[in-house]
Amino acid sequence: MSLLTILRYPDVRLHKRAKSITAFDERLAILISDMAATMYEAPGVGLAATQVDVHEQLIVIDVSETRDQLLTLINPEIIWASPERQIYDEGCLSVPGIFDGVERAAQVHVRAQDATGKSYELKAEGLLAVCIQHEMDHLIGKVFVEYLSPLKRNRIKSKLLKEERELKKERQG
Ligand code: NI
Repeated sequence: MSLLTILRYPDVRLHKRAKSITAFDERLAILISDMAATMYEAPGVGLAATQVDVHEQLIVIDVSETRDQLLTLINPEIIWASPERQIYDEGCLSVPGIFDGVERAAQVHVRAQDATGKSYELKAEGLLAVCIQHEMDHLIGKVFVEYLSPLKRNRIKSKLLKEERELKKERQG
């Protein structure tokens, strides 16, 4: 098990589109376990493979308070979204320290495959529905700040770039 490096916005690799997964093998099992460990360590409630620079349709999620309800969604598709919408203050491990309101479907039904390739369906509402839609956006190269106004997005970009420059300086000592 190893911890993976999470790409930070505005890294261009966050805008790549993920390919579907066809091999449910040992390599995939290791990737899932590394992504779960990385998400729990961060800590975060969800992580898409895109965020660790692997451009394949894989998401891990755990919205439980006990942090022991890991969900693995491979090749996920939204098969139903409620017309009812909700606004939720979202954050993202690739956009550290930034939280802002995003409007999305309040409930979704998703079809996905598990680590063995078995297909299953999931009904989600509340935080889980938010999280699934947020992570699925990562797989098409979309980061939640893209829902915000250009003004806000540019402020976030400058703030994160500045932080990154400062971090680099610190590392060089
Ligand atoms: Ni995210």
